[in-house]
Amino acid sequence: MREELLSPDLDPVDIDVEVGLRPRRLDEFVGQAELKGHLRVMLEAARERGEAADHFLFAGPPGLGKTTLAHIVAAEMDAELHITSGPALERAGDLAAILTKLEPGDILFIDEIHRLARAVEEILYPAMEDYELDIVLGKGPAARSIRLELPRFTLVGATTRTGLITGPLRDRFGLTARLDYYEADDLQSIVARAAGILDVDIDSEGAAEIARRSRGTPRIGNRLLRQVRDFAQVERDGATVDGMVAREGLSFFAVDDLGLDRPSRAILSALCERFEGGPVGLKTLAICVSEPDDTVEDVYEPFLIQQGLLLRTPKGRVATPAAYTHLGLAAPTRPGSLFEG
Ligand SMILES: Nc1ncnc2c1ncn2[C@@H]1O[C@H](COP(=O)(O)OP(=O)(O)OP(=O)(O)O)[C@@H](O)[C@H]1O
Ligand SMILES: [Mg+2]
Repeated sequence: MREELLSPDLDPVDIDVEVGLRPRRLDEFVGQAELKGHLRVMLEAARERGEAADHFLFAGPPGLGKTTLAHIVAAEMDAELHITSGPALERAGDLAAILTKLEPGDILFIDEIHRLARAVEEILYPAMEDYELDIVLGKGPAARSIRLELPRFTLVGATTRTGLITGPLRDRFGLTARLDYYEADDLQSIVARAAGILDVDIDSEGAAEIARRSRGTPRIGNRLLRQVRDFAQVERDGATVDGMVAREGLSFFAVDDLGLDRPSRAILSALCERFEGGPVGLKTLAICVSEPDDTVEDVYEPFLIQQGLLLRTPKGRVATPAAYTHLGLAAPTRPGSLFEG
């Protein structure tokens, strides 16, 4: 099946490669052991009872496997998957049209579910809870409402921002699962698996090196693998990707020791050098690095925070001493600095 909707930051090459690399079954999905355990039990129980599975919400930073899990839920339930996204559902009628087409047991995947319009979200509540759809026909005094029965279906929602999901919506999911950044050894398995599929000649040290600089993110691991493969082919005469070739290839593509790419480093250096470590507001920082502020917040910051390089404070973003060390800069000494004394 062809992906209809993917993240906006993906180019078509990425989409084709990702579809090929995506694990199809729960067993092939590496890491996230706890989440996988919960999902396995809930899916198996529903399967045994011959019912539609409960609704699932997957939350976490981009590229950690939310869309992949939606496909896996459908595959494990042997069910039809329908894909849409929060921003694509502009009016209540858009969602009603999709809901009324569902067959029993079908999976409806709503990506970026935190971006659903309020009016759309409201018809989702009874649909999720009671499998009912209230439709208002007509306008003004002549308007009347009719209630339609819906088949039992499974809603899978994905979001990069749990904080933006309203309480009533979150409460209607049978399982809310947070995906965390992957451990190095899990990422190494993911890179090695992708290398097998893409037929890349790589040894375990090469895979480990790529994994270490993938910012805990499978999508980045897969992308770096492709870049290093190209580097080995063109610049190293098709040599095996060992630790050395991987290191050279990664530095050729400007991926630093922690795996920070240019935009992530630009954010850090703007913070350290132009704003003397902050605090500085998100908007100002985003303008400074020419990125949309929600991209800075959703895509780049979570990893910088996780690495202890950046802090979100009520007054704005602040660089930590580790950020200065990482950039090879001297820590600030100005009066009132957060890290003085
Ligand atoms: N646990 C995993 N095991 C193996 N590969 C994985 C895993 N998780 C993700 N991947 C790989 O990473 C790619 C990106 O994953 P996916 O598209 O599911 O991320 P996402 O969380 O939906 O991201 P976004 O928020 O940008 O939509 C997949 O195509 C797949 O190849
Ligand atoms: Mg996705």
